[in-house]
Parts: sequence; structure tokens; C-alpha cells
Amino acid sequence: MISRMLMDARVHEADAGDRITGIDRPGFHLTPRSGWMNDPNGFCFAGGKYHMFYQYYPYASHWDSMHWGHAVSEDLLHWEYLPCALAPDRYYDQDGVYSGSAIMMPDSRMMLIYTGRRIDRERGRAPKERQVQCLAFGDGVDFEKYEGNPVITANHLPAFASPQDFRDPKIFRLADGTYSCITGSKTEEGDGQVLYFSSPDALHWKFEKILVENKGRFGRMWECPDFFPLDGKWVLLTSPQDMLPQGLEYHSGNGTLALIGDYDEQKIDFRDEFNQSVDYGMDFYAPQTVLTGDGRRVMIGWMQNWDAVAIREPEAPWAGQMSLPRELHIVNGRLNQWPIREFDELRKNRVEYKNVPVGKDKLYLDGMSGRMVDMELVIRPKDPEKSYSKFVIRFAEDGETYTSIRFRPHESTLKIDRKFSGSRRAIVHQRRCLVESAEDELRLRIILDRFSCEVFINGGEKVMTATFFTDMYADKISFRADGDVVIDVVKYDIVP
Ligand code: FRU
Repeated sequence: MISRMLMDARVHEADAGDRITGIDRPGFHLTPRSGWMNDPNGFCFAGGKYHMFYQYYPYASHWDSMHWGHAVSEDLLHWEYLPCALAPDRYYDQDGVYSGSAIMMPDSRMMLIYTGRRIDRERGRAPKERQVQCLAFGDGVDFEKYEGNPVITANHLPAFASPQDFRDPKIFRLADGTYSCITGSKTEEGDGQVLYFSSPDALHWKFEKILVENKGRFGRMWECPDFFPLDGKWVLLTSPQDMLPQGLEYHSGNGTLALIGDYDEQKIDFRDEFNQSVDYGMDFYAPQTVLTGDGRRVMIGWMQNWDAVAIREPEAPWAGQMSLPRELHIVNGRLNQWPIREFDELRKNRVEYKNVPVGKDKLYLDGMSGRMVDMELVIRPKDPEKSYSKFVIRFAEDGETYTSIRFRPHESTLKIDRKFSGSRRAIVHQRRCLVESAEDELRLRIILDRFSCEVFINGGEKVMTATFFTDMYADKISFRADGDVVIDVVKYDIVP
């Protein structure tokens, strides 16, 4: 039975979504059908299609009572909207159908597992929030919430885990046909951790273990965990709240974290050896991964961050985008990211320059402009014996308006800066990251869509992602350097 609330959402989104015209949306990044989007949810591959659900408020471009939006794609680049999948229409999720994941059941039903949020408000008492894990079964379009919901509650939790901050279940089927599920959690002292539950049938759950403890290292509450094997290692992704900065690796506020290490599945024992940010820009959060039909691990994140959502004007018809799908690997012990290879098929109108000198005068090259662009650059000092002090690329540029990327070889820092992109909000506009051993040669792949840039550094060693809402006529690209630099550049238009 489809509830009145879900019906209303479906009617509204079809109408409001159709009124958002093509050029008001990005060219190849997924946006909500109407209204607001945050985290990717239920990212899975079923019946030859990728399903992407998302945290969704269809009625306005701000966060509110959470639903699950839904889209499908055959190539992770061209998306088709399906009707809103879940609404907060039960007592146990009346204050939000929060993030979760999806899995195909042996009987071919799709199962969604999500966090139900409920706030008990009693007169004269402080409101009491509860987060519980719930199921819904369906055919990939319509879903029925399970009558035994909620399936994991505060009663399953060990004494040291908070019942308020207990969310974002990611489910797995193990080789023996049983299920496991991990959730974000917080200790009573406010420290992040990931909990591990097991189940013979996905309906009856038991707490097994704490999979990872923060021990005060990275922020407080850990949101949206994911966990998978990759190139002989195991990777735990999570998005910590309330981070403190650590050099240029982590910044304050809501961040992203990858823990890389070894895992003993029998003992449920994960030892992390290495940690890093997943993305070093301003706008990336709560990523989820999927295994493609041909075995590639692909990640998509919410291409926004809670600390910068004010960049979008309140009257905008949509807010929130998903990042490009990125193929993941472990290279030299680090998480390497690269746009999925299918994206290359959208590249048209190749323009190439080799050994172009760049100096203090701004350089514009014929054919180098646009707002839906894939650009690969190699940057090196003209004289290998003599370094330069700064190299700058500006894009989405028109006069005083632009977003820029700047490299300082002496500091080994790359900075992304959208301060002059037209934003009128006092949010974070710049971020830097360290780029080791790039003095001789720095390689950048910059992918621009109408409202974003994703910068892949040195073959995907690091990525910086940022959104901007610059007027569309600002489409110039320029290069400048302090010192003598030469660049090779290949640029394509993206034609989705
Ligand atoms: C992360 C998050 C999740 C939660 C959802 C609510 O961005 O805070 O932890 O489930 O968003 O919309």
C-alpha cells in the first residue's frame, strides 16, 4: 500500500521536476528530481541497472523531513528518475527516513535498510531522539515497509553506544548466505565508532562487535560507513562530524575519512594501518560504493558538504548533486580515484597543445573554454634546473568572476578557490592540499560541469571537489605563472 504521504511526494516531484529545464541542471551529475538532495543511499547494481537512492526533500531546496529519492542508470552517467521510494510515513520513522543501503535478496526482491528517526516530544521534557534500523522490500520501484520494523533498536545496542546517534546501515551478504550490517555510532562520551551486526535472514539481528573505534582521532560522530576489500586490502569509509584540522590532511567540520588496513572476516577483526581524507576539496561527503557487473569498485559521494550548503540560494529549484562515479584502487597504500572509464566516451572535440610557455601574462588558448569540459594538464618548469613560484588556472571565468586552482611548488600545495565565483555567502571558499614530488611535473585532470569541478591530481592520488554557481556566460579558461612554466594540455567538451 502506498501511503498518502508517498503519493503526495510522487505527484509533487513529477510536476516540479518537469519544470526544471535541462540547462538549469548540471550536464552529467545527478541532481534531485525536485527540491533537496543529500547522501547517496541504497547504491546497488541489480538486473543490469544501477540504482541510486538519495536523501531527499522534494518540496523545497533545503533539508527537511527526509524521504528517499530514486534514479536508475545503465552506465552511471545517464540517469532516469523513478518515483520517490520512501516517505516518513510510519511512527518509527516519522521524523525522517535517513540514510541506508540496498541489497538483492535470493528471491529477487530488493531490500532497503534505512534509519528511522523519531523524536518523542513530551510536555515539560526535553525532546528525546531515537534512531532505529528498518527494512523495506520491493520490485525496484515500489517498496513495502516490513511489518516487523524496526529490526535493530536501542535494545540491540551495547551499553556504551548512544541510541540517538545510531544510523546509516550498510548491509552485506556473506559467502555463507548470512548477512552483516555496519552502522555509524557514537559512544556515550561522544566518540565515533562503527558497529557490526549479524543476521541469518536479514530480519533478526544481533550485535557482534565494534568494528572500528575512533579513539578521539577523527572528529566525533561517524556517519555513513562503507567497508569493502580492494586490491588486497580492506577500506573503511566514513564521514566524521566535528573534525579538528590536522595539517592539510583533515579540515575542521564535516570531513571524509578512509581507513586502509587488513581484515580477518572470521574474527571480525579490522586493523587500520593508514588513514587519509577521501576528498580534499570543499564539497564531498557520505560516499557509498558499488561493485560493477565487471568487478570494479565505484564510489559516488554527495557533492556538497553540510558546512557549505548555504552556497545555494534558497529560491533555487534544486539543491545538492552527486559526484562523478569514481573507480577506486589502492596505489602505494593510498586510495586512488579516477573517473569511471565510461566517462571517456562523452569526450568530444579534442583540442591539444604541447610545450606551451606560460608566464606572468594571462594566457588564453584557442578552443580552451567551456563549462562542460574534461581537461588534462601537465605542468613543469621551463628550465628543469630552475623552479617557478606559482602556477594558476582560472575557469568559469569572465572578468572578475572565476574559480581557480593554484600550485606552489616550494610549498607543495595545491589550492582550490571559489571566492570569486559569485558566492555571496561567508562559507569556506578555499582549501589546500599537499601534493608531494610535483616540482618536476604536476599532472591534473580537471572535470568541469555547469556547477562543479573535480580535480584529479597526479593520476588520482588525491581529488579536490568544489561546487560553484557562477553565471553560465563565464566560460573562459586562462593560465598564468610566476616564473617560467611550460604546459601540455588536452581538452575535450563533454557531450552527454
Ligand atoms: C549524513 C547524514 C546521515 C543521516 C542523513 C540525514 O549526511 O547526517 O548521517 O542519515 O544525513 O539526512
